[in-house]
This record gives sequence, structure tokens and C-alpha cells, in this order.
Amino acid sequence: MIYDKFARKYDCALAPFEKRFLRQWRRETLSFLPENARILEIGAGTGANFPFYSHLQQAVATEISSKMLTFAKEKTNSIVLLQADAENLPFAENSFDAALATLVFCSIPQPEKAFAELRRTIRNGGKIVLLEHVRPNGLLGISFDCLSVLTVAAIEDHFNRETTKIAEKCGLKIVELRKKVFGIVNLIVCEVVK
Ligand SMILES: C[S@@+](CC[C@H](N)C(=O)[O-])C[C@H]1O[C@@H](n2cnc3c(N)ncnc32)[C@H](O)[C@@H]1O
Repeated sequence: MIYDKFARKYDCALAPFEKRFLRQWRRETLSFLPENARILEIGAGTGANFPFYSHLQQAVATEISSKMLTFAKEKTNSIVLLQADAENLPFAENSFDAALATLVFCSIPQPEKAFAELRRTIRNGGKIVLLEHVRPNGLLGISFDCLSVLTVAAIEDHFNRETTKIAEKCGLKIVELRKKVFGIVNLIVCEVVK
């Protein structure tokens, strides 16, 4: 798992971006999650979203890389952490009221499978909230297609993934879409309709 190699340096590498953009985007993204609810996070990484959960939420954070989880453990006493593949979640149907993923869908090999798992494990009417970098429109999109060849080879990151479109194709209803930095980053709020 490629993120086992990055785990130790991940927080440090992201620190300038956290300070400039990510921290406020994370706060905004988690503000769409319901209070008093069962929340599932997938690809939780080193736990960068944990400070923005409300104490009223019962959260389970999953992550495929055991090394990333080691660092996530240092950031929480209340969130349940579990090593799991988003394409094959170890939960029963309708186990959660809402789900969260930030900067995750670009690195999941089969995003359709992960969306199917989220649709299965989140109850009807529940929310799926995503913060993802995506392929922008126009000429910039073409440069992302080129860049993606390199990022997939180097870090298994699909830089040109059209996550909003894929979510819709997988049967999720997009209820809000906030585009940031020329559409390169999308805050996507979906509703599960079963
Ligand atoms: C760019 S990091 C984002 C981490 C964190 N969500 C954040 O916002 O900082 C992508 C994460 O997705 C995880 N990931 C990739 N494929 C996954 C999968 N199939 N199931 C669960 N997690 C996965 C990686 O291990 C990594 O921790």
C-alpha cells in the first residue's frame, strides 16, 4: 500500500496547504454532517479531519493503510478506528447516517465499488460529504489528463478523476456542489436514495 510509505511525512508535507486552504475547507465540509448521528469516514489517513467532528457525532474512521492509522490513533480518544478497504466495507446495510471522505476518491482503484459500498452502508436519505480534487473543465482539464499519467505511476493518484460525475452515475443525488480554485477542488454533498 503506497500510503504506508508516505505516512510518516504526510502531515508535514500537507502542513503549508492545511494552513492556507485545507483546514478551512475541512471545517466547511464537516459542517454538512448531521449532529447526533452515526458517521463513517473512509480513507481517514492520519486523522486530519478529526478536530472538526462534533462531540455529539459517533464516528467510525476507516483507512486501508495500517501506517496511516498509526498516526491517526495519536489524534483521537473518541473516534473508533478500523483498517478497512472502502471497496469492501465490513459493516451491515444502513449502519450509518452519513459518510465523509476527503482527498480519497482520487486514490481508490475502483471508485464505483466504493460508492456502491457507501450506498449500502448509509441509510436511505443519509448524506455522503466529499472534498475531492477533480478534473476541471476546459484546457486545464487536458493538462490534468497528462499529469495524471505521471501521478498514477508515481503515487497511484488519478489526478483527472471526475468524482462528482462518477457519484451521480452510481445513483447518488448531488444536493450541493461547491467548486473551489477553478473547479479543481469540489465540495460535494450527496444524498442516498434507495
Ligand atoms: C491523500 S490521502 C487523504 C487522507 C485524509 N482523508 C486527508 O484528508 O488527509 C488518501 C487516503 O486514502 C486512502 N485510501 C486509498 N485507497 C483506499 C481504499 N481502497 N480504502 C480505504 N482507504 C483508501 C489512502 O491510504 C490514504 O490514506
